[in-house]
Amino acid sequence: MADTAGPVRPAGRPEKVPAAIRPGDTDDFLEGPRLTRISVWGLLLSLALALFIFLYWTAEPSRMTNTTTKFSKDAIERGQQYFALPTNPVTGATNTRGIGCARCHGNDAHGGDVPYTDSQTNTQVQGHAPDLTVVFNKYVLHPQMGYKTPRDYIMATIERGRTNNVLGNGDDMPTWGQLYGGPLTDQQINDIIDWLQTIQRPVSAASS
Ligand code: HEC
Repeated sequence: MADTAGPVRPAGRPEKVPAAIRPGDTDDFLEGPRLTRISVWGLLLSLALALFIFLYWTAEPSRMTNTTTKFSKDAIERGQQYFALPTNPVTGATNTRGIGCARCHGNDAHGGDVPYTDSQTNTQVQGHAPDLTVVFNKYVLHPQMGYKTPRDYIMATIERGRTNNVLGNGDDMPTWGQLYGGPLTDQQINDIIDWLQTIQRPVSAASS
């Protein structure tokens, strides 16, 4: 005779039925309260998502404008700091971003004197760095061949440097762009130009 009794379970321990083979909920329950509960939750969450997307969408244009404005403002501020000396000559404050274009062009970029030793006569001479507050308007009036905009030419001058007399005399505009062996990244040079752009004057106002 076949053994149909199965293993004997110790008395007092109820049989545990695995979830997968327990009887399911009745159709009345599934299609009644359960369906209603799921539908209501679905509706509420869809409404919440729709509201979220709507609010995000309405706030997005002003968020983008504000972020762009903030980025430009930060760039100009950094540019001014790069331009200045590492130590403020008046207040003595430390400027950790200071690269010191001001050393030759002056703190306000109005142009400045560059004392140097003439490599041919070996005498002390006074060079001159140009006023950068008119540089944009100057190149609007005198476009440079091969450059689409004054900014392109100014960028190229800062990246490559420029000699005004005898190369290596110490009164040259040094090379700043990393592409040409200088210390500054494109971002830093762009920040400086962004700042220069905010302080431009008509060419007639040039100090030199
Ligand atoms: C060692 C002195 C010196 C330093 C430092 C210096 N420059 Fe110059 N810069 C010059 C001289 C000199 C010229 C003029 C070159 C020439 O004769 O065309 C010049 C020219 C320029 C010009 C072109 C101006 C024009 O009218 O065409 C720009 C722009 C400029 N410098 C920006 C900068 C920036 C930005 C920095 C800092 C990253 C800087 N310079 C640092 C000496 C200097």
